[in-house]
Amino acid sequence: MPGPEAVLEGKVAVITGAASGLGEAMAERAVVEGMRVVLVDVETAALDSVAERLTGAGGKVWAMEADVSDRSAVAALAGRVEAEVGDTWLLANNAGVGSSAPLHLLTHEQWEFVLGVNLWGVIHGLAAFLPKMVDRDAGYVVNTASMAGLMTCPNLGPYVASKHAVVGLSEVLYRDLQAVGSRVGVSVLCPGGVVTKIMSAERNWPTRLGPAPSTLPGHYPDFPERKQPREVAAQVFDAIAAGQFWILTHPWQYADAIHARFDGAVAARNPDDTTLDPVVKTMRDRRSSRPRGATRESQIDHDHLRGG
Ligand SMILES: NC(=O)c1ccc[n+]([C@@H]2O[C@H](COP(=O)([O-])OP(=O)(O)OC[C@H]3O[C@@H](n4cnc5c(N)ncnc54)[C@H](O)[C@@H]3O)[C@@H](O)[C@H]2O)c1
Repeated sequence: MPGPEAVLEGKVAVITGAASGLGEAMAERAVVEGMRVVLVDVETAALDSVAERLTGAGGKVWAMEADVSDRSAVAALAGRVEAEVGDTWLLANNAGVGSSAPLHLLTHEQWEFVLGVNLWGVIHGLAAFLPKMVDRDAGYVVNTASMAGLMTCPNLGPYVASKHAVVGLSEVLYRDLQAVGSRVGVSVLCPGGVVTKIMSAERNWPTRLGPAPSTLPGHYPDFPERKQPREVAAQVFDAIAAGQFWILTHPWQYADAIHARFDGAVAARNPDDTTLDPVVKTMRDRRSSRPRGATRESQIDHDHLRGG
């Protein structure tokens, strides 16, 4: 684990999905720590504006456009970072998107969209950066998963699959690095609700996948107890300093359901409401207790349940 290496000043941080939300907040915190920060994203206008803001605040910041779902783009990014900025110390595989529909209605393109960014993006990031970090025996990987990596909820098949995969591969990565005595640290970030633009992930639907499906979510107003991205970024940097693998932002909200889920698996009990994502359950219960006809709110909640 990082120990004294956790003095971050001057070290290079590469943060994907840095033009918004959690990635932007992590980048901001990395700047505060005195790191040299590479902001990676596909949304160039937002990327440039975050870079400008952080540079204006005295940060040493590089904006590099790259689509994390594209293997060669991420390989090229790693080359560029090495040539223009230096050896990467912190790799935050954070870019993520969602797309929703019941599994029998999902399109192949929705699978490609979500797994391309959320899973292949992490795989490409690791492939491009990790070997040299291990060779240098220095650095830290933070993979952003979700509570959807530990729980399931309806209508979010690709998202849940991608985030379960990221939790699993991150835990394997931790074990693999421990097994060879590496000082490269690993954390997996499992946020609950955080105030970001994740619910308009369709803005990043790539043209190569054809028209965006109409089932993509547009509203998510009621998600209870959402945190601010900066609070989560602070948790991430505390975890890096402590070499703490699991970073859950809302453990109190999910603890009972997580225990029930794994107890249920061991006892061969079928999934039920006790093992459902509690936020989804709360929203569904609220919806069903509303009188029929309060259409605007009902529609928003319906969008939520479709869109997660
Ligand atoms: N906000 C939440 O409540 C929440 C909860 C659980 C997990 N997460 C995870 O947090 C991570 C960050 O999302 P956020 O909530 O900050 O959302 P966000 O939409 O505000 O930020 C995501 C960023 O990723 C970028 N991005 C999308 N596709 C990309 C690609 N192909 N290549 C590079 N960048 C790409 C977007 O342009 C955007 O800037 C995601 O992995 C998301 O799944 C968020």
